[in-house]
Amino acid sequence: MDRKLRQAQGNWVDGERFWGREVDIRILTRLVDDGAHISIVAQRRMGKTSLMKELARLLSDRYICLYLDLQKESVPTDAIAELALVLKPHNPLWEKGKRLFANIWQSVSGGVEEVSCGEIGIKLRAGLDSGNWMDKGDELFRILSKSEKPVLLMIDELPLMVNRMLRAGDGGMTRENIRQVDRFMSWLRKNSIEHQGKVRIMLSGSIGLEPVLHQAGLSAVINNYQPYDLKPWDHESAAGCLTALASYEEIVFDDHAVLRMVEKLGCCIPHHVQLFFACVFNYCMHRRVMHFSAEEVDDLYETEMLGFRGHAEMTHYEERLSMYFEKERLPLVKAMLTETAVTGVLTRAVILELREEYASQAGCPDEALDEMLRILQHDGYFTKKDEGYVYESNLLRDWWRKAHEEFYTRRA
Ligand SMILES: Nc1ncnc2c1ncn2[C@@H]1O[C@H](COP(=O)(O)OP(=O)(O)OP(=O)(O)O)[C@@H](O)[C@H]1O
Ligand SMILES: [Mg+2]
Repeated sequence: MDRKLRQAQGNWVDGERFWGREVDIRILTRLVDDGAHISIVAQRRMGKTSLMKELARLLSDRYICLYLDLQKESVPTDAIAELALVLKPHNPLWEKGKRLFANIWQSVSGGVEEVSCGEIGIKLRAGLDSGNWMDKGDELFRILSKSEKPVLLMIDELPLMVNRMLRAGDGGMTRENIRQVDRFMSWLRKNSIEHQGKVRIMLSGSIGLEPVLHQAGLSAVINNYQPYDLKPWDHESAAGCLTALASYEEIVFDDHAVLRMVEKLGCCIPHHVQLFFACVFNYCMHRRVMHFSAEEVDDLYETEMLGFRGHAEMTHYEERLSMYFEKERLPLVKAMLTETAVTGVLTRAVILELREEYASQAGCPDEALDEMLRILQHDGYFTKKDEGYVYESNLLRDWWRKAHEEFYTRRA
C-alpha cells in the first residue's frame, strides 16, 4: 500500500512524519560508523535538523546520540553548560557529569534531582567562567569517551553561536572576538581529535559555518570535519511526499497537479514542499472539495505561497543577510538580489555597475565582492551559471521580486 504521511508540525520532523532521504541516511550512517566527524552543509530549511533527529532515532541502539542546540548560546560557558545538560537522559553519563560539577550542586537546596532542568542550567552557567570552562569541557569529553557505547554528538546551530561571538559588543568583528572564537573552536577541534573513534561530532546550522569562519580567517578550525552537502529533494521524492501527504488527508490530486507543483518550486526544499501542501490542504478544506487540479496550481502559488504566508517565511531570508554583511554592504547585496529577481540573471558587468552605484571600488574591493557572492551561493540564494548568477530557488526569486521590484530600476 502507498505510504501516508502526516503533515509536519513545529520545527523539525522525524519518525512517521519524516520523508525520503534514504541515500543521505545510508551515507551518513557509514561515515558515522567509520568514526568521521561531519559537517552537514545546506541552505535554510533543507531538513538538516530533521535529518539529525531521524539519524539519532535510527542509530540509538548502537550509539549514545546527544543533540546539542546552540541556537541561543553566545559564549563558551553556555555551550559547556548545555553539553552537561544533554547528558541528563543518559544516567551513567549524567552521574559522572554531576560529580564533575559537585561544587555547584552544594548550593542547590533539596539536591539536584529536585530542581527543574531550567534551574540546573542556570546553576551550571553560574558555576562556569572564562577560567574553568575549558577544563570542565575537557572533562565532559573524557566522560563521553569512556561511555559504554560510542557517542554521536550532534551540535546544531553552532554557526549562530560563532557568529554572535564574532560580532559581540559594538565594535564589529574585533580581534578579541576573533580570538575568543578561535579558542572555542580550537578546543572543540582538539577534543574531536583526542577522542576520535569514541566520540563522533556532527555539526550543522541554519547559516553556513564555513563562510562565517572564513570571514574571520579561521576556516582551518573545521578542516577535520567532512562536509556533507545535503541537497534539495529530487522531483521524484518531492512528488512522492506530496502524494503521501494527500493520501493521509484524503485529498485527490487530479491529472498533473503534483507535477505542476514540483515544477513550480523547481528547487524542492522540503519545507517549501510541505508549505505548498499546507496551502492546498487549507484551500480544499475551505471550499469543501477535496480535489485539486493542475489548473489551480499557479493561482494558489501566487495568492498563497507568494502571499502573506510566503511573506512571513521569506522575510527571514532577508533578515539574516544582516547577520553576515556589515551595514554598509547591505544595500549592494540587496540590489544584487533584486536585480537578479527582476531580470533573471546577474552578470559580472551589472555587478560592477551596482558596485559603482552602491559602494565604490574603495568601499568594496574585488575580494570583498567575491566574498559576498561566495556567501550568497553558499547560503542558497544564488547558483552560478555560464551566463551569470541566478536564483537557486524559484520561490525565493519570485518572492524577492514581488517584495522589491516596485521601486527598482533595472540595470541590465
Ligand atoms: N525528511 C523530511 N520529511 C518531511 N518533511 C521535512 C523533512 N525535512 C524537512 N522537512 C520539512 O522542513 C521543515 C524544516 O525542517 P528542519 O527544521 O529540519 O530544517 P533545517 O534545515 O534544520 O532548517 P533551519 O535551516 O531553519 O535550521 C520541517 O518542519 C518539515 O516541514
Ligand atoms: Mg535546523
